[in-house]
Amino acid sequence: MSKQDPIHIVRLSPDSDHVPTVASWTYAEWGHLSPGYTAESWCEAFRRECGDAGVPSVFVAMEGDQPVGTAALMARDMHSRPELTPWLASVFVLPEWRGQGIASRLVHRVEAEAADCGVSLFYLFTPDQQALYRRLGWQDHEEVRYRGEAVTVMTRQLGA
Ligand SMILES: CC(C)(COP(=O)(O)OP(=O)(O)OC[C@H]1O[C@@H](n2cnc3c(N)ncnc32)[C@H](O)[C@@H]1OP(=O)(O)O)[C@@H](O)C(=O)NCCC(=O)NCCS
Repeated sequence: MSKQDPIHIVRLSPDSDHVPTVASWTYAEWGHLSPGYTAESWCEAFRRECGDAGVPSVFVAMEGDQPVGTAALMARDMHSRPELTPWLASVFVLPEWRGQGIASRLVHRVEAEAADCGVSLFYLFTPDQQALYRRLGWQDHEEVRYRGEAVTVMTRQLGA
């Protein structure tokens, strides 16, 4: 990161004042896919994903003291594939901050966290961002239908 770079990536701790803000982004983006949740119960579930290290962990891209993006390392994400773990999940950047490499930096931070806790292979699924993840070294694993849409499960090999 250069001295001019206003963005820094930090861990989101469960007691952070930013948890409700970041949870509200992911609820707005993906909450409709999990109809059992309210905004409040989603926020509390999101808070439980904010661990101290390893799985689970949530990271945020900060511009000064304002969060502008997030990504998570989670044990479970795709309920139809409980045998696959862990997952890169909840990758989101505020619209006005897109196209500047922030999601790429968040993905790299999650990858570093996974590698540090001994993960050699982990997973994501995406309906439409395959190109972004391929550029970051992820490989297509399988095409499946999940919650009514076509998604690609992708894998990332870490370490040697
Ligand atoms: C998908 C998403 C996370 C991407 O965030 P982002 O910060 O814009 O991603 P990046 O900047 O790292 O990469 C996006 C593009 O910017 C380009 N880019 C990367 N670094 C750049 C830089 N320094 N300057 C200009 N462009 C850059 C990338 O090449 C990429 O190109 P593309 O538009 O052809 O794909 C964001 O659009 C988003 O939040 N979407 C809604 C939620 C979502 O779909 N999440 C993914 C779920 S799988």
